[in-house]
Amino acid sequence: MAASSPPLSLLTALLLLLFTASLIPPSQSQAATCTKQSFNNNKRYTFCNDLPSLNSYLHWDFNEAQSTLSVAFTATPPKPDGWVSWALNPTATGMAGSQALVAFKQADGALGVKTYNITSYAPLKESEVWFDVEDSSVESSSGGAITLFATLVLPEKGRTVLNHVWQVGGSVSGGVPLKHEFQPANLNAKGSLDLLKGHSGGSTDGNSKLKRRNIHGVLNVVSWGIMFPTGIVMARYLRVFPSADPAWFYLHVSCQVSSYAIGVAGFGTGLKLGSESKSITYSVHRNIGITLFVFATLQVFALLLRPAKDHKYRIYWNVYHHGVGYSVAVLGIINVFKGLDILQPDPKWKRAYIIVIAVLGGIALVSEAFTWVVVLKRRKAGKSDNSYEGYNDGHTRQEP
Ligand SMILES: *[C@@H]1O[C@H](CO)[C@@H](O)[C@H](O)[C@H]1NC(C)=O
Repeated sequence: MAASSPPLSLLTALLLLLFTASLIPPSQSQAATCTKQSFNNNKRYTFCNDLPSLNSYLHWDFNEAQSTLSVAFTATPPKPDGWVSWALNPTATGMAGSQALVAFKQADGALGVKTYNITSYAPLKESEVWFDVEDSSVESSSGGAITLFATLVLPEKGRTVLNHVWQVGGSVSGGVPLKHEFQPANLNAKGSLDLLKGHSGGSTDGNSKLKRRNIHGVLNVVSWGIMFPTGIVMARYLRVFPSADPAWFYLHVSCQVSSYAIGVAGFGTGLKLGSESKSITYSVHRNIGITLFVFATLQVFALLLRPAKDHKYRIYWNVYHHGVGYSVAVLGIINVFKGLDILQPDPKWKRAYIIVIAVLGGIALVSEAFTWVVVLKRRKAGKSDNSYEGYNDGHTRQEP
């Protein structure tokens, strides 16, 4: 059927696009890991970590006998005249109580470092901190990143595991760094730092964790975020073409079954990451993920319980199948955005996903309009037609 070619080729193009997108390695910006970083002042450090939030990095040297710690902290403030901060918290895990180094443009216009004993979200006041600062300096890069260098003398000898907190903010007013944003990435910018077990050299815990988070992201974006909705679009619109029957049914089933397989793998990696992240629980992301898994599993088993197409209960099965199916699509897309907020990859990945979803949505809109034209034309022609009956249709075609 000639009329079937434009939407079919659109779909093919979309699938090709998705396939190509899935081949791009995750988060290339993260490939610039700390082990490859160097500084203009040529300082070198024994250890470094890619911090799990806010695209930031920590390099350090620790002299246990002297209790001196040299750090280089790199992050990018959200606005050019913002600030970056790295802090140790000797008494707690979060911001309150942290002993912070903050780098920003000082009154004389040059970048400098000040120290703050942070007790609350009240405006900051420069103060003495838990450690002595022997020297400090700041370097900025053309990309907007700021690196804060400091050599600290820690007061408690023998204490080698410490909580640290880092942060970026968009503005400074009257020599005072102003509040940062309260996005998940800002609130999650904290962790435990083992000064003797930094990640030196090639593969490291920090890197492999980041890698696993990226794998989790890619698997779930491909399955829940892209393939499930694509499978729904195929089922809804391909069937309008008699020539695509029963091919649409097999396409739909194989698309959804493969995305279920990928989705289960993604769900498994999520459970693993969740069980390792003791200090932070992303409850909304986790609960949506569990719901998705349950719903999709129901869909797969419902396939086996499907009444024959002319069975009087088939209509109820269809309502159920469509209801759960659309919920999976909507929740899947929502959870992709939740996950992107947590992982905070380079912004281009979020943009790319928005484009893919917009293209899919556009295809659905065009197909919806096209479908109605076809259906109305067939009705007009007086043919008894049931190849498209909208949302709660009876699946009266010859699908198995
Ligand atoms: C930081 O402030 C708190 C609360 O005012 C105070 O108890 C603590 O001793 C201060 N720490 C330092 C290192 O000055």
